[in-house]
Amino acid sequence: MKVLFKHIKELVQVRETPIRYVAGEDMKVLPTIKNAYLLVEDSKIAAFGSMDLCPNDDCEVVDATGRIILPTWCDSHTHLVYAGNREQEFVQRIQGKSYEEIASLGGGILNSATLLGETSEEDLYKQSKQRLNEVIRLGTGAIEIKSGYGLNVAAELKMLRVIKLLSEEYSLPIRATFLGAHAVPLEYKENKQGYIDVVINDMLPLIAKEKLADYVDVFCEQGYFSLTDTELIIRAAQSYGLPAKLHVNQFNSIGGVGLAVKHDALSVDHLEVMNDEDFEELSKGDTMPVALPGCSYFLGIPYTPARKIIDSGLPLALASDFNPGSCPSGNMNRVVSAACIKMKMLPEEAINAATLNGAYAMGLDGEVGAIAIGHRANLILTKEIPSYSFIPYSFGSNLIDKVYLNGNEVK
Ligand code: NIG
Ligand code: FE
Repeated sequence: MKVLFKHIKELVQVRETPIRYVAGEDMKVLPTIKNAYLLVEDSKIAAFGSMDLCPNDDCEVVDATGRIILPTWCDSHTHLVYAGNREQEFVQRIQGKSYEEIASLGGGILNSATLLGETSEEDLYKQSKQRLNEVIRLGTGAIEIKSGYGLNVAAELKMLRVIKLLSEEYSLPIRATFLGAHAVPLEYKENKQGYIDVVINDMLPLIAKEKLADYVDVFCEQGYFSLTDTELIIRAAQSYGLPAKLHVNQFNSIGGVGLAVKHDALSVDHLEVMNDEDFEELSKGDTMPVALPGCSYFLGIPYTPARKIIDSGLPLALASDFNPGSCPSGNMNRVVSAACIKMKMLPEEAINAATLNGAYAMGLDGEVGAIAIGHRANLILTKEIPSYSFIPYSFGSNLIDKVYLNGNEVK
């Protein structure tokens, strides 16, 4: 199968030489080709360049006059598989309760865990499929999905099997992360170590045996899992070959960043609260910091200090955190927009963060996240727009005309 896109107003995020991620000043550089062509062959990007050099292949042609093409969004942090919703907590927060207060009263993650326990695998699959369809139409072409609303062996496995089923049925790459240590279930309230033992001794071996996860995650936060707890789980997961992607510094800086870097974690996510030591630790390794501005927006908590991170020479990725409690939206266009508006990222930085760096943050660099030879042809074709900066600028509009996965238009 061959598809030739012609007269593309601007082809965005073109990388002639392979690059794993961009950091610091380089994040301001978003290479593009104006008046371009793009040739897709056998689901992959086969060639691209200026229209002057456009080949004359006998194949399906898409006229992209006036429109921009960019790689699909790479959403490296979601909890898209969940049951039901939590709009009651949303109302409680409007009335003055904080996210942490609601959680301490048995709401929050535990609320979602109860709902998930009552939901069959088939129904969970159906609910999740709807969300996945929605975000694909909004331009997401690679995604990471976490467990963590099961909190017992059977329910964690149920979540991970649903993720596996989705990845078998859909043609976008899906990465699965085991987040058994998302919260301590009620029955272990007085015995957190008992639950950690379940995570390490009961859940991990089964998950590894069934190959249900690519990564491990821990909610490393005051009131959830300490540094010691987190390290135990990271080490256990390492023995099964599962690298870490961690929830750290959402409400407090307790040293999770340093721990992650020490263990070569692939990413550290949230980072709303950062101290000098965290910055220093980040500069020591290749762990990708990931900001989740949708969560800051929805909970009204501080935004990740993106300017300081990038101006320190570090990389940054953007992800949605799509989940029922702290960000019930997986719209990456809005994430990119919020990054520009609230975190003062330039459109170039935000697009790099949501494509190239997002791919790295889920181990998919080299496969998605750039217009590069051999990458999957996972593409966003916009409507007629004046420039790529119009995407974050025009924050309430859907500017996507078509989405392509492996060169096939998503219907
Ligand atoms: O990334 N902070 C931890 N986990 C999720 C929220 C989970 C929930 O409230 O359901 C997050 O924000
Ligand atoms: Fe999260």
